[in-house]
Amino acid sequence: MRKVIIAGNWKMFKTQAEAAEFLQGFLPLTEATPEDREIVLCVPFTDLATVSKFLHGNLVRLGAQNVHWEADGAYTGEISAAMLLEQGVRYVIIGHSERRQYFGETNQTVNLRLKAAQQQGLVPILCVGETKEQRDAGTTKQVIAEQLKAGLVDVDLKKLVIAYEPIWAIGTGDTCAAEEANRTIGEIRAQLTNSTVSIQYGGSVKPDNIDEIMAQPEIDGVLVGGASLDAQSFARIANYQG
Ligand code: 13P
Repeated sequence: MRKVIIAGNWKMFKTQAEAAEFLQGFLPLTEATPEDREIVLCVPFTDLATVSKFLHGNLVRLGAQNVHWEADGAYTGEISAAMLLEQGVRYVIIGHSERRQYFGETNQTVNLRLKAAQQQGLVPILCVGETKEQRDAGTTKQVIAEQLKAGLVDVDLKKLVIAYEPIWAIGTGDTCAAEEANRTIGEIRAQLTNSTVSIQYGGSVKPDNIDEIMAQPEIDGVLVGGASLDAQSFARIANYQG
């Protein structure tokens, strides 16, 4: 069965004090959240220890936003899977478009990170998606097919989440229409040899569009940026009416 995963990606937002304030507001709002969905918070590395303490004994899961492929070594600025596991991390975002766009992430480095994360017992959330130019040129399907083909070499599809994030819809308020997201996610699923992979949608998900997004049959959850920073709005998203 495909699991529904509602994940927040805090990106480079929130100090530890701000994270604690968020959780004090957010966790009580998730006490009655149906157990048919998993809630995940993917927070900056410096927030992991604080958030982990708050989530102890709670059903909300901890996530990180990147992981290096080596177990350790001279890689200034990088974080290993063991370091994340020690903090109680379960999920890790890999290949987010911001990493691809600003930090030189390629399908090959994405693949290395995916394999390392899985080998160490983390569940990767692989992000794929097209730019506005690629969408306008009608190449969405090919772009994503290439990201999947190169990124998923030797990756175990049974321990993977995919997030379809059209780049033009990220942080723009320009949500991909629910039917279009549903269709593209269906195309992604058709390319996979294992059809039970959970595939999320990401890009301007808000309290006022979550119910429509989650009503789509191919969409197994969301990866939320801006709206995951506010306790009330992320709680409304987690408590979507399904
Ligand atoms: P927004 O929800 O702010 O558009 O960000 C989406 C995203 O990039 C999640 O990873």
